[in-house]
Amino acid sequence: MPENHQIAVEFRDVTFSRNHRPLVSHLNFSIRQGEALVLLGRSGSGKTTTMKLINHLFTPTTGEVLFDGIPTTQWDEIKLRRRIGYVIQETGLFPHFTVERNVGLVPTLEGWKPKQIKTRVYELLHLVGLAPEQFAGRYPHELSGGQRQRVGVARALAADPPVLLMDEPFGALDPITRLEIQQEFRRLQQDLGKTVVFVTHDIQEAFVLASRIGLMYGGELVVLGTKDEFMRSQHPESLAFLECLHSLQDNL
Ligand SMILES: Nc1ncnc2c1ncn2[C@@H]1O[C@H](COP(=O)(O)OP(=O)(O)OP(=O)(O)O)[C@@H](O)[C@H]1O
Ligand SMILES: [Mg+2]
Repeated sequence: MPENHQIAVEFRDVTFSRNHRPLVSHLNFSIRQGEALVLLGRSGSGKTTTMKLINHLFTPTTGEVLFDGIPTTQWDEIKLRRRIGYVIQETGLFPHFTVERNVGLVPTLEGWKPKQIKTRVYELLHLVGLAPEQFAGRYPHELSGGQRQRVGVARALAADPPVLLMDEPFGALDPITRLEIQQEFRRLQQDLGKTVVFVTHDIQEAFVLASRIGLMYGGELVVLGTKDEFMRSQHPESLAFLECLHSLQDNL
């Protein structure tokens, strides 16, 4: 079916349970190629769980997740993960690898030439605002939390995967750097036509980055739409998030 070419990821009535308790339930939605879908929701609402269902770190208890039209359970896991860059909430850098080796990890696994890897690593460190001359040789424990997060972003971009999952990647940044990197990332995402699923609990961040916003509440996706549609949503949880925006403005 031609319209399927436009769909990168599809959730078909997905529930994921642990110890007989659903962490997410009845997820039904699609992620279009080239869009930036922001999953917004308060802590514990199921955002990270939804991400882990996409790259098959979790297997649906019922329903299925299709990546490029094929259920994640039928994908070769290594092939699937190479197509999906993943920035996890805690950055997940290898502590005994330098910044350069961490960022160059996937290109190394893919057998790129050392010179090519170095060029790519330096390019990405520039991109995330870390001068390579200064940072390439450092170890993760020699960085601040925000610098570690930027290395995590560079690593996920390194092998140019078509899909990126980003789980609160900018949480540890100061507000100025954060806004800069959000705007830079949005530009990059649009220029490269990347499909991005971005998790945040910050509604302002959602508005900077999203082509569509998905609002999670209690393990369910309760609203999915453009920013305008989100602004008009009458769901109590969207109203609660919008109230946070308004109260910020009112206090200025
Ligand atoms: N492996 C697990 N086993 C059991 N329960 C889990 C597991 N992982 C997460 N949970 C629970 O599932 C719910 C959803 O968790 P999830 O990590 O998806 O939330 P989140 O929206 O990412 O929250 P946060 O913004 O705090 O990161 C939470 O109640 C959490 O305690
Ligand atoms: Mg989370």
